[in-house]
Amino acid sequence: VKQNKYDDPAFFEAYGQLLRSRAGLAGAGEWHAFRALLPDLRGRRVLDLGCGFGWHCRYARKQGARAITGVDLSERMLARAREMTIGSGILYVQCAIEDIQFDPGSFDIVLSSLAFHYVERFDLLAARVHRWLAEEGKFIFSVEHPIFTASQAGQDWWRSPEGQILHWPVDAYQAEGVRSTNWLADNVVKYHRTVATYVNSLLDAGFRLDRLLEPEPDPGLLRDRPDWQDETRRPMFLILAASKDQL
Ligand SMILES: C[S@@+](CC[C@H](N)C(=O)[O-])C[C@H]1O[C@@H](n2cnc3c(N)ncnc32)[C@H](O)[C@@H]1O
Repeated sequence: VKQNKYDDPAFFEAYGQLLRSRAGLAGAGEWHAFRALLPDLRGRRVLDLGCGFGWHCRYARKQGARAITGVDLSERMLARAREMTIGSGILYVQCAIEDIQFDPGSFDIVLSSLAFHYVERFDLLAARVHRWLAEEGKFIFSVEHPIFTASQAGQDWWRSPEGQILHWPVDAYQAEGVRSTNWLADNVVKYHRTVATYVNSLLDAGFRLDRLLEPEPDPGLLRDRPDWQDETRRPMFLILAASKDQL
């Protein structure tokens, strides 16, 4: 079952208030690390899975990508993406990541930012992405870090009775599966899996692993946002970059 929380008006409104929604990639804490993993996009065919407002699609176009496809489940997210996209070169498609179909070898680069923790079977997805990529294609994606998603008691700090942050609970780490969270709204369904499952699913699909990052938020943003300081106490993002080898 795919939950489409981003089309819930209250959730959509709250998501729209986040810095990353207002400022785009410049306001996304992990963007500095993600961008560093992207290959030269000039002349490439790029697919963005869970494209949201389309920030990464427009970045790819600006870098000279030849054709860009953004896929997202949410009608509201795509409506905003289309509003913010002037000119051609980007095709936005409303579809679940789990259901979308492409011919083998359709893309040179597949990327995804913070969407796969909404997808139940990463192993199946990795195999499909491998087929959609041309030889020597690249797959770069970020997810909420498994240390962040592990607890079954919600994704939040443990606090003292006075409300002071004590620590981030890591529990039930090996129990992969559904997590019901209260991020921006009640009962937001995400899927927890281990770092090993992410990495081994890539390897089993035939990818070569190029890089694994657990970045702290951008130092510039940290300077401006003292309230983000606690984000350095545990990883929030896991970013993986993989390649499809030449046959
Ligand atoms: C945290 S937002 C990230 C948006 C964008 N990638 C970014 O980084 O700015 C997650 C996006 O994934 C989309 N999404 C969640 N589950 C999905 C699914 N099963 N199939 C397609 N899109 C999905 C949501 O609608 C939302 O736009």
